[in-house]
Amino acid sequence: MADSMKVLVTGAAGQIAYSLVIAVAKGDVFGKDKPITLVLLDIPPMMEVLEGVVLELNDCALPLLREVIATADVAEAFKDIDAAMLVGAMPRREGMERKDLLAANVKIFKEQGAALDQHSKKTVKVVVVGNPANTNALIASHYAPSIPKKNFSCLTRLDQNRAQSLVAHRIGIPNSDVKNVIIWGNHSSTQFPDVRHAKAVIGGKVVAVPDAVKDDSYLKNDFIKTVQQRGAAVIKLRKLSSAMSAAKATCDHMHDWFSGTGDSWVSMGVISDGNSYGIPEGLMYSFPVKIQNGNWQIVQGLDINDFSRAKMDATAKELLEEKAMALAACQG
Ligand code: NAD
Ligand code: LMR
Repeated sequence: MADSMKVLVTGAAGQIAYSLVIAVAKGDVFGKDKPITLVLLDIPPMMEVLEGVVLELNDCALPLLREVIATADVAEAFKDIDAAMLVGAMPRREGMERKDLLAANVKIFKEQGAALDQHSKKTVKVVVVGNPANTNALIASHYAPSIPKKNFSCLTRLDQNRAQSLVAHRIGIPNSDVKNVIIWGNHSSTQFPDVRHAKAVIGGKVVAVPDAVKDDSYLKNDFIKTVQQRGAAVIKLRKLSSAMSAAKATCDHMHDWFSGTGDSWVSMGVISDGNSYGIPEGLMYSFPVKIQNGNWQIVQGLDINDFSRAKMDATAKELLEEKAMALAACQG
């Protein structure tokens, strides 16, 4: 449909997608005035479940939803899309690290990268959610050479939201009164949630988060570990990985990419340029970004102390290792 935005969700019969597709179709992501054509991709054995999701979407009688295309055909799914939310991949189970999924999942992103290259608009914006998200996004971009690397990203917004909420609870203020929490690096247990540059609004006054929390030991230890291990904590309790919060974070990520961030920053996994914070070029690394007119820019010039430097380098090292493993797996 000419006037609608064409949005692809992969893994559309899965648990994250079940919360995600309704938010997209309701206009929570791309705007309340933007008609949507929703493309839902899953694998052939899941087509019956997917048909059920389509019935439910229709039964919502949504004003903005113009058309739903449910398919197991990759070429059909990626055709002329404006936005891609690449969720479809195996989730980890208790006791696994996200990178243990690499061998199983990375080939999905090789195939989908090639499909983006061949079939999608060159302006498509891509967020990868399926784990290991950073490296999968890097692989998708690698196999889509005709699409600018800046159009690829991975989700670290869930980590940002987790960190923001923990800090807001600790201070005793609403979540919306904490800004500019940063997630550096990999969406993994080496990620570095950093509140040194974050701000809290307390009684109408803007205060640095470390001054508001007044507990450096907490911020350097338990806080970081809690964010790093939050995905595992949810899996242990639910026996399934986080879904509602992952869908919400995916919506936040795409919403801000399309609508802008104003004066605040958000964290996104984006391609490193080799000129930002000493992170090697060519990694899908989570940085603080500001977004205007659909374009993100890494926030530059933040002071990095020795504590932060060590953590930022450790997560970059893990991404370098994952990149080598993923490229080898794709060639094998
Ligand atoms: P799920 O198992 O409920 O759903 C995954 C769906 O993907 C299934 O329906 C499956 O059939 C489908 N799928 C598998 N291969 C596919 C392919 N080649 N093409 C299209 N669809 C395919 O899993 P879920 O809970 O929805 O999680 C999906 C992924 O998201 C997992 O890898 C999980 O680890 C990851 N995740 C990431 C974050 C994040 O913050 N980055 C957060 C939560 C979960
Ligand atoms: C999360 O952070 O909740 C997801 O990446 C799922 C997981 O494996 O932890």
